[in-house]
Amino acid sequence: MMSERTTGLAIEAEGLTRSFGETRALAGMDLQVPAGTVYGLLGPNGAGKTTAVRVLATLLRPDGGRARVFGHDVVTQADRVRARVSLTGQYASVDEDLTGVENLVLLGRLLGLRKPAARERADQLLAAFGLTDAGARQVKKYSGGMRRRIDIAASILNTPDLLFLDEPTTGLDPRSRNQVWEIVRAVVAHGTTVLLTTQYLDEADQLAGRIAVVDHGRVIAEGTPGELKSSIGAGTVHLRLRDAAQRPEAEKVLQAALGVPVQLEADSLALTARVGSEGNDLAAGEQAARALADLARAGIVVDDFSLGQPSLDEVFLALTDHPAVPDDERDEQLEAAR
Ligand SMILES: Nc1ncnc2c1ncn2[C@@H]1O[C@H](COP(=O)(O)OP(=O)(O)OP(=O)(O)O)[C@@H](O)[C@H]1O
Ligand SMILES: [Mg+2]
Repeated sequence: MMSERTTGLAIEAEGLTRSFGETRALAGMDLQVPAGTVYGLLGPNGAGKTTAVRVLATLLRPDGGRARVFGHDVVTQADRVRARVSLTGQYASVDEDLTGVENLVLLGRLLGLRKPAARERADQLLAAFGLTDAGARQVKKYSGGMRRRIDIAASILNTPDLLFLDEPTTGLDPRSRNQVWEIVRAVVAHGTTVLLTTQYLDEADQLAGRIAVVDHGRVIAEGTPGELKSSIGAGTVHLRLRDAAQRPEAEKVLQAALGVPVQLEADSLALTARVGSEGNDLAAGEQAARALADLARAGIVVDDFSLGQPSLDEVFLALTDHPAVPDDERDEQLEAAR
C-alpha cells in the first residue's frame, strides 16, 4: 500500500489573503499540491511567494481563506502541520558562527536524537551534500553554494513530509544551482513533497511536476511545465537585420513562416516572435530554421539570430500583458546594482 505521505494532496489552499498595511501580499490564492512531487511557485519579486510559504508553514496567519497541509488546517491545527513540515527560508536559519557539523548535531539534538545518533546523521548528510571537508569550518566562511546546501541539509535532518524551499538557488552560479537541483531530486525520491519558490522558469521546468505562476498574490496560471510552455510558446526567435528598411518585409515573411504575430522592437533593426506554440507541430528549432530560409530567399539580410527559451518575462507578458518587472522598477534595480 502507498503511504499517505506520497498520495493525495499535500497542500490545499482556498482563497488565502494576507495584507501588510496597504499591500495585498496574498489576494485570494488557491493551490492544490499533489503529495510526493516538486511543486513550483513561479513569480517575480513581490508576487507573494514567501508570504504564501510562511502561511503554509504556519509562521504567519492568513487574514482570510483557508489552507490544509496533509489535511490539517494551518491555523487551527498548526502543531500537527509543524510536525510534518520543514522550511528552508530565503533567509535561512543555521547559525553562522557554528561549523557545519555543529549546526547539524545541534539540530539533531533539538529533534531528540542522542549525541552519537545526531553525529552520525550529521556525517551522513554532510557526505550526501558534498560538505564532508567543510564540516569543520564555520558556516560564515562557506561559499553561497555551500551555504545553500547546508541549509537544505539542516531542513531535511528529520526527513519532513513537506519541505518548503524558498528560492534555493537565487544568486548561485550554474554549478551550484545544479548541485542544489540534484539534492532536491534526491529529497523527492525519498518521498518528501517539495514546495519550491523560484523566479526562474528554467528551474521550475527542471524540477517541478506542476507549476503555479503567481502574480500580485494570486495564481494566474497552473499546469505542468509542458502545458505552460505550450500555452505561451516554447521559445522566442530574436532577429537583427542589417537594414532597417527591410523590416516591414521581414515581418511579413516571418509572420507567414511562423503563423504567429511578430513583435517589432524599439531597436529599428530588431524583431522577435514566439515559436513552438500550440497548433504548430514542428519543433521550435525547425520552425526557426524554416523562417530563416524564407528570409534568405526573400533577400533579407539577417545579422544576428537567436532562439531562446521563454524567459520569466515572456511568460508574464504572455499571461498578463505586463512584464515580470515593470520597466521603471527594472531601471531602479539596475541603478541600485551599479
Ligand atoms: N513583513 C512584511 N511587512 C510589510 N510588507 C511585506 C512583508 N512581507 C511581505 N511584504 C510585501 O508583500 C508583498 C509580497 O511579498 P513576498 O515576500 O511574499 O514576495 P515574494 O514573491 O517572496 O518576492 P521575492 O521574490 O522578492 O522574494 C511585497 O509587496 C512585500 O513588500
Ligand atoms: Mg520571497
